[in-house]
Amino acid sequence: MRPGESEAWLSAMLNSICDAVITVDASALVTYLNHHAISLTGWSAEDALRRPVREVFQILPEDSDKEVQDPVDMVLRNRTTITSLSGVLIPGPTGRQQDNARIYIEGSAAPIKDKITEEVVGVILLVRDVTQERQKRQQMMLAERLAALGRMAAGVAHEINTPLTGIIIFASMMSDRLSPEDVEDKESLDIIVESAERCSRVVSGLLRFSSTITSNITNVDVNALILDLLEQRHKSPGNIILPMKKVIRQANLGNVSIATILDPSLRHIKADATQIEEVFINILANAAEALNGKGELHIKTRLITGEQHDLVEIEITDTGRGIEERHMNLVFEPFFTTKPVGLGTGLGLSVSHGIVRLHGGEITFKSEPGRGTSFFIRLPCQA
Ligand SMILES: Nc1ncnc2c1ncn2[C@@H]1O[C@H](COP(=O)(O)OP(=O)(O)OP(=O)(O)O)[C@@H](O)[C@H]1O
Ligand SMILES: [Mg+2]
Repeated sequence: MRPGESEAWLSAMLNSICDAVITVDASALVTYLNHHAISLTGWSAEDALRRPVREVFQILPEDSDKEVQDPVDMVLRNRTTITSLSGVLIPGPTGRQQDNARIYIEGSAAPIKDKITEEVVGVILLVRDVTQERQKRQQMMLAERLAALGRMAAGVAHEINTPLTGIIIFASMMSDRLSPEDVEDKESLDIIVESAERCSRVVSGLLRFSSTITSNITNVDVNALILDLLEQRHKSPGNIILPMKKVIRQANLGNVSIATILDPSLRHIKADATQIEEVFINILANAAEALNGKGELHIKTRLITGEQHDLVEIEITDTGRGIEERHMNLVFEPFFTTKPVGLGTGLGLSVSHGIVRLHGGEITFKSEPGRGTSFFIRLPCQA
């Protein structure tokens, strides 16, 4: 090879590797970044070269309780390879983090040794972005966990439903038979009926969460459904209180501004309109609650064209308090709630997840504590 040729060949080879490659010298200064490393770290080669690697490639442990580790420093000190490098990457100056999503990486860090002296003259980092893989894996695990919980919930709910109906019917009949003087007994029976009805609402939520049948499938125009929901708001006296049905009426929307951007090219979906409406109401009720009377609520729809089938995406974004990091894995679980006792059953999102899954769609969210939350519902269009 002519002078310079082997270097060009090496660079071309390193750039064709699908992973990000970063090399550093024995003083932990960056000596090389391939194309993937430039886009992953958000540092240009110009700015990164000769800089301490801990400025260019900084990873935090996934678990915030663990200490931050410097893999390059560890390799230089121990002279051994780290094969299980993983963590959350802190993006550099031009890094992709407009949406504030975390970038999860996995990889390895190995010492570069001098051929003759065996001395460690640098470190090579090989890393890849596993964010999407991780999201998919987590979604699958969540779906499996919820399906298992759903099977159990359905069994329990069916068992409880019959005796509950008995309690409500017979207590009501006894109450009707009492003479007007039996005030105390009547009060006690009314409490029995009320409590049983509360249980019955929870059971009905559990049954909807675990439901495996859609009852009334029609062609649904999602834009029209949303407009319809919002229109009820304008019809409501004073035009202040949110829409729509009981759940939301309790929410204090005070000065919240509501904006809709509805894609006119949206196609119809085959769905049970009442169930889809319930999903929107649950998510809007949560958003209203998180907004606590101030901020913005955006409802957007868009058509996603795919190779196999097109999807309708509905995005509901609020600028409310956001979901705490430690709760993100739990929000779809039945009975998970951060509301005070008696104010929420924690079934809204699990029922919504069940309904969307039943329609062959998916529901995901992005949230930044203190800044807001976006829920995304994707439903397949009619064939
Ligand atoms: N938009 C949001 N902003 C902030 N937190 C949210 C949002 N949506 C959901 N959450 C969190 O997820 C939890 C579970 O929501 P879910 O709708 O399942 O139950 P809930 O609202 O607590 O009770 P219920 O819907 O039964 O009245 C909420 O308690 C809240 O902590
Ligand atoms: Mg809710």
